[in-house]
Amino acid sequence: MKSLIRASIVVAGLCTAGITICSAVNVDTSNSGGTIRSGRLWYDTAGHVINAHGGGIMYHEGTYWWYGEHKVYGSQGNRAHVGIHVYSSTDLVTWRDRGIALPVADAPLRQGMSTSEKTPDSDICDGCVMERPKVIFCPKTGKFSMFFHLELKGQGYRAARTGIAVADKPEGPFKFLRSFRPNGQMSRDMTLFVDNDGKAYHIFASEENKTAHVDELTDDFLDYTGKSVRIMIDESTEGIGICRHGGKYWLIGSGCTGWAPNTARLYVADRIIGPYKRLGNPCRGTNPINNTGPELTWGGQSTFLLPIHGTDRVIAMFDIWNPKNHEESRYVWLPVDFSGEMPTISWLDEWKP
Ligand code: GAL
Repeated sequence: MKSLIRASIVVAGLCTAGITICSAVNVDTSNSGGTIRSGRLWYDTAGHVINAHGGGIMYHEGTYWWYGEHKVYGSQGNRAHVGIHVYSSTDLVTWRDRGIALPVADAPLRQGMSTSEKTPDSDICDGCVMERPKVIFCPKTGKFSMFFHLELKGQGYRAARTGIAVADKPEGPFKFLRSFRPNGQMSRDMTLFVDNDGKAYHIFASEENKTAHVDELTDDFLDYTGKSVRIMIDESTEGIGICRHGGKYWLIGSGCTGWAPNTARLYVADRIIGPYKRLGNPCRGTNPINNTGPELTWGGQSTFLLPIHGTDRVIAMFDIWNPKNHEESRYVWLPVDFSGEMPTISWLDEWKP
């Protein structure tokens, strides 16, 4: 049985997205041993490489849902030709492919979608850029809200918009509602956060990525109340992930160097709206796969902070981008150690969440 599974993984690797034989040999995957192995190929339960970059994870009723950018082959592979991919898991190691939660508008129709959602002049048409999707559940409406960074087709990264979509189920299909600049402000790298009091916030790199904004959402989690606060002023922080731990708000981010790695930075605040105090680089140790140390975030960029449900543990998620071939980008997931004076994140070749 084991050899059958291995064989199918190799075949899938070869015929899906330009995976080389060399990579396919590396099938001692995360999910086979019950451990997370950062920087290595990570296969889903069907034996295909997980394609969910710049991702965010929502925990809902016993299941984790991983939403991410579906990247394709080549240097232009950051353009959205498929949409937002979603996977589900109960153990954070074994992920099942649940399909495309939000397809680009002129992708093949899925059950439940109307032809009007297939129009090529949609904001989310084939060739636009859809990045850093995040999904939160709204208890008031019983629906799931997806926010993502949207760049319109043919405009590079100039549009700096937020796209919003909604679904009745975590796996979708999500219905695209609209895109715009929140409260009239530029929005690129982003995350969503629901606070203990039930209020939701959209946190995004704004003002040409120099300053981030924390914008409060309306109680249907689909619009803005107009309350907006500027944080990390003139610090050019992106790749933003936020979690609450020990009564404080922890924010991880990167500098602003496109797909190239730079030094991560950690911030702490007493309230979600800040002010955020900069603490320095939480990363430790070296990634032996690319021989890159903590000063360059092991070759990666922060993307999300994930609290493990029912525990006080948090996973820090990063992407190792490959701008020459976007679908060859890799994931780094490591535990955050809150035991010292300042939280740290140390490289581990392999670990169990
Ligand atoms: C990065 C950003 C990525 C992507 C990239 C494009 O700084 O974090 O999500 O937008 O720039 O160059």
